[in-house]
Amino acid sequence: MMTWRVLLAAISAFVVGICGTGNPTSPAGDEAPAALGISFIEGSTSALLIRRNGKTYMVDLMTRTVREAGSPPAGAGPAKSGGATLSRPSAGQAQGAMIFQKRCAGCHGPDGKGIASIHTPNFTDPKLQATLTDDQIVTTIKNGKPGTAGIDMPTWAGKLSEREILVAAAYVRSLGSPAAVQTPGGAQPPESTQKPKVYKPGDDVLLTLPTGRRPDFHGLYLNFTHRFVFDPAFTGTARGNALLGLDGFSLSSFGLRYGVSRDFSVSVFRSPTFIARPIQMTAAYNLLSEVDRAPLNAAVRFSVEGHGNFRKNFAENFELILSRSLTHRAQVYFVPTFSLNARRLFQPGSYRSRAIPDLPGHHTVSTGVGGAVDVRPTVALVAEVIPTLVAGRALGIHRPAYAFGIQKKIWRHAFTFGFTNSPGTTVSQRAGTRAAFLNAPGADKPGGLFIGFDIMRQLY
Ligand code: HEC
Repeated sequence: MMTWRVLLAAISAFVVGICGTGNPTSPAGDEAPAALGISFIEGSTSALLIRRNGKTYMVDLMTRTVREAGSPPAGAGPAKSGGATLSRPSAGQAQGAMIFQKRCAGCHGPDGKGIASIHTPNFTDPKLQATLTDDQIVTTIKNGKPGTAGIDMPTWAGKLSEREILVAAAYVRSLGSPAAVQTPGGAQPPESTQKPKVYKPGDDVLLTLPTGRRPDFHGLYLNFTHRFVFDPAFTGTARGNALLGLDGFSLSSFGLRYGVSRDFSVSVFRSPTFIARPIQMTAAYNLLSEVDRAPLNAAVRFSVEGHGNFRKNFAENFELILSRSLTHRAQVYFVPTFSLNARRLFQPGSYRSRAIPDLPGHHTVSTGVGGAVDVRPTVALVAEVIPTLVAGRALGIHRPAYAFGIQKKIWRHAFTFGFTNSPGTTVSQRAGTRAAFLNAPGADKPGGLFIGFDIMRQLY
């Protein structure tokens, strides 16, 4: 999203580009300004001198100020070194903002909040500001610093003048106290450019239903799911009741998701032998995002699942994932899903891997509906229902699959613990319920829930 600040910076950069820098190279560039009584200031990209009626004036394009050369700068004196001087809002701040947008925003973000993938710090974080002294900021800008993610903070000494380094440092400092931040031109951004209230899903799924969240550019995510289904599945409710099934064995699936770009991701996901060893390969594309002020988030996913490690019983799935934030603390999800050649969850003898049967496929339509609500800043309640609208009976599904749980969101991690009546975690299996899994139509009772948990870890 291009903020008006970036736009202004771009326009200013253009103007500066036209005016030239302190040392124009073409002879014409030398003569024409002089004839007009204009001269450039060495090392400055924003100020020039104009001679009129025997007097010399300094014009600062960034701060839009004109003053007689020789008189002290009106409140624009950049800090000589350290101390409280850097935090004082000053006319130089507009220039600082301009330098920041032009030279720094590429790696530090237009708002100075940093870019996760290259590990640049969040300058708006008061905790970070507290750990940095003014001298450290100035020194880092001058001399650079090796980065922790392969990209280094460049050296600016020689590329920016001493004064520019100081005003850039003052601007970095001012980002820590939002009230002091002046945007170029001095005005506050209009209300409509304030950040929209958008919910941040903690994981790629609620419990099983996809949230359609965008990946980070080149982000790599590990998804790990456990569904403790076995004792209830093989011996009825009795043994499964021991510690809510935690004494039993789980169906453990895992996958990786990679953000090829901010909008396009690919993933691989594998479930174990007891449900026929499907491997699911998915490509997902984010069409709309509330972050870009769209009225809702929309993503499409196409996936192919194949049993026996992608050898047989292939199913093809198309999903449309729609979501909308109610506030920045709650989001609702709607996921119409078309599965071609979905197979039954019940597979007698399939736990012997050679014996995975060839099963007839059924074309199904399901619509996942879900929601997430943050009850604390890092804790969400999640719930989902996945009714199968077409061909559910053919798969032995008698009731909608549903799940509810609680999710802890830690930096780049999510842990979700919940209850569900579905053992499946791939697209075509997730609508299958306990009854479908046991091949026992009566098994979908309210008490017939499995416990499960998901772990998501962003590796990069
Ligand atoms: C090519 C990318 C890049 C550009 C351009 C860039 N930086 Fe950095 N900067 C970094 C990285 C990476 C780090 C973090 C180094 C690390 O891992 O500690 C950093 C760190 C910093 C720090 C130190 C923060 C700390 O915790 O020590 C300051 C201050 C800073 N940058 C200011 C600026 C300013 C001002 C500009 C523009 C004049 C700028 N940077 C331009 C990549 C960049």
